[in-house]
Amino acid sequence: MLADPGELEAALLNIAINARDAMPDGGTLRFRAEPCAALPREIRTEPDAPGAPDDGFVAISITDTGGGMPDEVKERAFEPIFTTKEAGRGTGLGLSTVYGFVKQSRGAVAIDSTPGVGTTLTLYIPRPRAVDAPLHDEANAAKVVPTGLNVLLVEDESEVRAVVRIFLETLRCNVTVAASGEQALLALGPNATFDLLLTDIALGAGMRGTQLAALAQKRFPSLAVLLMSGFSSELLDADRDSPPTWELLRKPYSRDELARAIALVVGAA
Ligand SMILES: Nc1ncnc2c1ncn2[C@@H]1O[C@H](COP(=O)(O)OP(=O)(O)OP(=O)(O)O)[C@@H](O)[C@H]1O
Ligand SMILES: [Mg+2]
Repeated sequence: MLADPGELEAALLNIAINARDAMPDGGTLRFRAEPCAALPREIRTEPDAPGAPDDGFVAISITDTGGGMPDEVKERAFEPIFTTKEAGRGTGLGLSTVYGFVKQSRGAVAIDSTPGVGTTLTLYIPRPRAVDAPLHDEANAAKVVPTGLNVLLVEDESEVRAVVRIFLETLRCNVTVAASGEQALLALGPNATFDLLLTDIALGAGMRGTQLAALAQKRFPSLAVLLMSGFSSELLDADRDSPPTWELLRKPYSRDELARAIALVVGAA
């Protein structure tokens, strides 16, 4: 999409917070994104409507099952400092910021709301021309990683481990997980057939990822190594001290970034 990722994230967060406020007793919040060739008629006929880009839009809709808006609120919802919330709770700037963001991105935004039923906000963001982003589409990201790669994933935080495992599995890797360097060494027995060691640098109180990688490569010289960390200082240290064939990946990363880093190290090893 042709939009600033940070601003898009802030817009989605603003909309989600409104949805939460509209559902004080709970409900369902649903996000959906789909390609869309043209804007809906009611937006297209607005005087300042954007032209249709060659590749259309991505329509991102956020639906809640909250109280909805009566027409007089819906009409004013994008106005700066318009709020129905009590003093001190809402600034009324949330949706006007969202509006500013979509306009600046040459997109549009629509509200569909029914009192008592719920609200859907839909953002229309222009899509880049297909040739601009070959690596961003799913199939291509997976293609750069050889199918059936045997990966030893070492990560002490269980939630991060679960997410990275899913990334790897959707990249068609065979994944073995370890929660510490010590556990990883057990998996690196004489019969191990790993192609890649993907390890966090800081692994709780135990051995560090860099030490693990050095020991592992001593046992299996052709093992590819990809280190990850959320700390710049750790990445700098590792960059200085580690062999040039090791790669570093800064957390958090997307599945595409992981795929490209893997392609780099398995190509080098
Ligand atoms: N999902 C929704 N369901 C019901 N009403 C909504 C929803 N989203 C926005 N509104 C209405 O639109 C008004 C303006 O929303 P906006 O996000 O601009 O400001 P706010 O939420 O009141 O304040 P702020 O976002 O600054 O905290 C809200 O006060 C509310 O009346
Ligand atoms: Mg708001």
